[in-house]
Amino acid sequence: MIAIRADLLDFTAAPPWQGPGLEGVRWRPDHWLLVGDDGRIQGAQIEDPGPGWERHDHRGRLLTAGFIDTHVHAPQLDVIASHGAGLLEWLETYTFPAERRHADPAVAAAAAARFLEALLAHGTTAAVVFPTVHRASAEALFEAAAARGMRLVAGKVLMDRHAPDGLRDDVDGAERDCEALIARWHGRDRLAYAVTVRFAVTSTPAQLAMAGALLERHPGLYMQTHVAENRDEVRWVGELFPQARSYLDVYHRHGLLNERAVLAHGIWLDAHDRALLRDTGAQIAFCPSSNLFLGSGLFDWQAGVDAGHRVSLATDVGGGTSLSMLRTLAEGYKVQALRGLRLSAWTLLHAATRGAAESLGLAHEIGHLEAGAAADVVVWDWAVGEPATHRDALARGALPGLAAQDLHARVFAWLMLGDERNRVATWVAGRLHGTGP
Ligand code: GUN
Ligand code: ZN
Repeated sequence: MIAIRADLLDFTAAPPWQGPGLEGVRWRPDHWLLVGDDGRIQGAQIEDPGPGWERHDHRGRLLTAGFIDTHVHAPQLDVIASHGAGLLEWLETYTFPAERRHADPAVAAAAAARFLEALLAHGTTAAVVFPTVHRASAEALFEAAAARGMRLVAGKVLMDRHAPDGLRDDVDGAERDCEALIARWHGRDRLAYAVTVRFAVTSTPAQLAMAGALLERHPGLYMQTHVAENRDEVRWVGELFPQARSYLDVYHRHGLLNERAVLAHGIWLDAHDRALLRDTGAQIAFCPSSNLFLGSGLFDWQAGVDAGHRVSLATDVGGGTSLSMLRTLAEGYKVQALRGLRLSAWTLLHAATRGAAESLGLAHEIGHLEAGAAADVVVWDWAVGEPATHRDALARGALPGLAAQDLHARVFAWLMLGDERNRVATWVAGRLHGTGP
């Protein structure tokens, strides 16, 4: 049994979309979070729980639920920060060649371990992840996540056209690989399988139909893909699928949209598409650092809210330039500012924790600090270095003659200025990261 002392911040519900209201925000400064031997949160209290508990005293620090990154590519740590290309050229020049190397199980295993260690070191405890087209890379990712007790959603990438040699599958082989991976991994430990269509460009209609059949045959699977990220890509999909009403409609026609579907980007959607997302329950993973880095466009979150579809936040590394969800939230704020929207720290944090958990149907397990949830939690320094330390002192009223600012101001400054250097410790199901199984 462990007890962690810190300032506890989580959400009981979605905060107001506009304005600084505190509804849904749960703030418990200087509390002990209690975690049972089963790795679940038991509760929180002000009083020291006393001997009998393994105590971790992080007073003066912040504790949140671990972040949930709803779209990220494990093999793309190799191509993060590659210069000078928009999406399609970036895939051809950097990403496809790098992903080919993951046919080798040893390369895939090393990459999976490196990737998950990096996620945890950035304060991300759950993720929806692309490996590569190779079955070995999906196996390696699941193995590595199981060894760490992590909540992970992943699946072998499907791509049977418009990709180089060594990076294409075929419909029958892919179906066999998917069935084997589903049988071995879906529902085992904290793992779930996602039918993983890379994007409409790289799958034939026959492969998309096979993907839809898998989802129908195995209720409870996730689906992950990309949609409407880049204008050249959207044009190409229009040429490849002239009968579809839109890019998103390609997926809909093949039975790929449901409440467990996670579609990255969704920048170039129209009102019909947004209504389709709402009606099917599918979510968009907003990937601001990737969208800026690749020059893809500015996601319209307000239109998503108006239409009533779900939105979560994601790094999309290696298109994105950081695995830090704090940095990603800060970039998300700036992208929305360019659209004239000033999101609160609450909206951003909620979307990367409880909101994402709800969108994934996992709110019984992750995304908050309720009793019964898995103890996937992260302790953070409020500030590292200058000017963050000065800014935090000002916000909490530690500077002589200056009144404290409100909680939102402090949390917003942490969110905008923080990154993985602020992370002090990560627990996964009550196990301190780095202390081994
Ligand atoms: N579209 C198809 N594949 C990819 C990928 O690997 N990254 C991004 N950002 N978009 C894609
Ligand atoms: Zn992606």
